[in-house]
This record gives sequence, structure tokens and C-alpha cells, in this order.
Amino acid sequence: MPPKPTSDWVSNKTTIEACERSCADGTSVGETIESSRTMEYHVPVMLAESIEGLNLRPDGTYVDATFGGGGHSRAIMERLGDGGRLYAFDQDEDALPNAIDDARFTLLNENFKYLKSFLRLHGVRQIDGLLADLGVSSHQFDEGTRGFTFRTDGTLDLRMDRRQEYSAFDVVNTLPEENLKNILSLYGELPNAGAMAHAIVTARKKKDIETTFELRDAVQRHLPRQQENKFLAMLFQAVRIEVNGELEALKDLLKQASEILKPGGRLVVISYHSLEDRLVKNFMKTGNFEGELKKDFYGNPLVPFKVVSRKAVTPSADELERNNRSRSAKLRIAEKISQEKENID
Ligand SMILES: C[S@@+](CC[C@H](N)C(=O)[O-])C[C@H]1O[C@@H](n2cnc3c(N)ncnc32)[C@H](O)[C@@H]1O
Repeated sequence: MPPKPTSDWVSNKTTIEACERSCADGTSVGETIESSRTMEYHVPVMLAESIEGLNLRPDGTYVDATFGGGGHSRAIMERLGDGGRLYAFDQDEDALPNAIDDARFTLLNENFKYLKSFLRLHGVRQIDGLLADLGVSSHQFDEGTRGFTFRTDGTLDLRMDRRQEYSAFDVVNTLPEENLKNILSLYGELPNAGAMAHAIVTARKKKDIETTFELRDAVQRHLPRQQENKFLAMLFQAVRIEVNGELEALKDLLKQASEILKPGGRLVVISYHSLEDRLVKNFMKTGNFEGELKKDFYGNPLVPFKVVSRKAVTPSADELERNNRSRSAKLRIAEKISQEKENID
């Protein structure tokens, strides 16, 4: 059952109009609609570009795989007619009070890696478009107690879904040094992953590492001067990706999306680091994550999508100025083609 919206829910109209006003007159979104719970929760990134990318049909069935504050969902709802439907996913229960009070909308407090199963439960077997705005919401970053940032002292948690047991505490305190090194190297792309992993293992021999500041202190000696924050961000990103199984979930989502999108349906993905973007780019181009173009007997490429955005779309200068958190965003758009046929010209 979708949760009931709370009384402080702000209407679509207020949120979207406020955003458009702020774009037009240059005032910051935060100032313009301080009262809006959802915009405080998260300012949607590349809102206009992603909604345009979905090429919405008023009577279509759509999925917002990453509901968060619901900024993108509200913009989609504004464009749907009576026959349209929107199913949204978010594995973080904190997103639930942002739910949209509309019979055409359903919010599922689930991981999007179970996309097909949960849609099937609701009688949906095909969709007209899917949007995924990956990563973490501002709310999750700002809740210092959840450990998503090294800037405030919080519990080493980093779970988006607090029903799962595996947390950052387990990653940091229980994994063998070699595994830790691989995680820091693969998911954080840290050049000194070995030294960092060793420092963590040395520190935890004395005492469990329980907080974000204790983790920061454990690796302090290995943070290059002038680049402390960059390296800490890479470290926290690595642990977060591991805790939430982010890359595997993304692969599951993309595969399932390609199976249930109708021909002509759009896949729109906003990613925030190169590991995600590479998977999305390869999958949209070739239908696999390695980016290997498979061909049929006659040499024609076998691909599920036509790539709509040849190059990744990035935020405008105006958006970057308004919302610093949009700075690493990359938007990619692809359209499902009826049969696996030639995609690349
Ligand atoms: C960047 S925010 C989305 C913000 C949203 N577009 C908005 O306008 O407010 C990403 C959201 O996706 C959720 N999320 C990330 N990975 C998920 C997954 N595998 N399954 C379900 N939700 C996920 C996070 O909990 C977070 O709330």
C-alpha cells in the first residue's frame, strides 16, 4: 500500500512554479520557496532537460526510480492526463512523507533493483518511460547522523535503506584488508587505496571505528595536502557504493527497464560519477555494460536502444550557480527500438 501523504505536502504547482521563477529571475531556489518541504529535501537536477527527455504522453505509464523529494515526479504528474500513471520507487523511508496525493501516483518504498516484480504486483508489465536520478538526496547528505558526509560527525551508517543490516560500520570494521583496498580502488578510484585500507585496518585493531570523524582521523596521514576533501569524498563514495550495492542495483535497473519499455519508450538517467555514467553510456549504446557491440549474422548491430543524447547533457551555467550539488551530473537519454536493430549511424 502506498503511504499516506502528510499534511505538509506542497502541491506540484507551487514547487514547479517556484523553480521556474527562480530560474528566470536568478534568485536561489532556497530563498524563493523556503516553505517548501520537498525543495528543502532535495532540489531536482536538470528538471526541464530530463522531463523533455522523457517525451511524455499524457496517457502513458511512467516510472520515477528515485523519488527523493519528488521534484521530478511532480513535474511528470503535471504533464499526465487522467489516463496517465506514475509509479515511483525510493528505498529510503525518509522520502515517504513527500508522496504525491493523487490517485494516478503510487510510491513504493523499495529498491529499484526489484523494478519488474513490484510493477507486476501492481499489474504493470510495460511502461512508456523511466527516469532515474541516481545517488543520494540532499536530505541524506544533510542528515549528519546518517554518516553520508565527512563534514559532520555521525554514525558510520551510510545505508539508504535502514531495513538492511549491512552498514558502513561493517565495511570499515570487518572486511579483510584486501577487500577493503579493492573497494576503495574500484568504487572510490583512490590512487592510494592500499595505504588507506592499511591505515583503516591498523586503526580498527585498537578500537572499532564507529563515527565519520573516526574514519577521517584513521586515514588523515594519507590525505594529500590541499586535496583532503577530495580524497575524503572519494573514500566515502567508495564505502557508500559498497554498502548500498549501487552499481549492481543500477545494472539490474537498466536490464529490467530495457525489457519492459515499450518501443518508443524513453530511458532517462542522471548519474553523478564516472562509474555510473560508464555503465549507463555503454548500456544505452550497446545493450551491455562492457560496451561491446554485438552484431547479427549479416553484420547489423544488435542493440535495444537508439541513443537520443549523443553526448551527456550537463547542467546549464545558471543551474550550476543555483545548485552546486548539480555540478557532477550527467544526463543521458535513449529510446527503446522495436526490435534489436541497427542503432549506430
Ligand atoms: C538524487 S535523489 C533523487 C531526487 C529526486 N529526483 C528529486 O527530485 O527529489 C536519489 C534518491 O534515490 C534513492 N535511491 C537510490 N538508490 C536507490 C535504489 N537502488 N532503489 C530505490 N531508491 C534508491 C535515494 O534514497 C534518494 O532518495
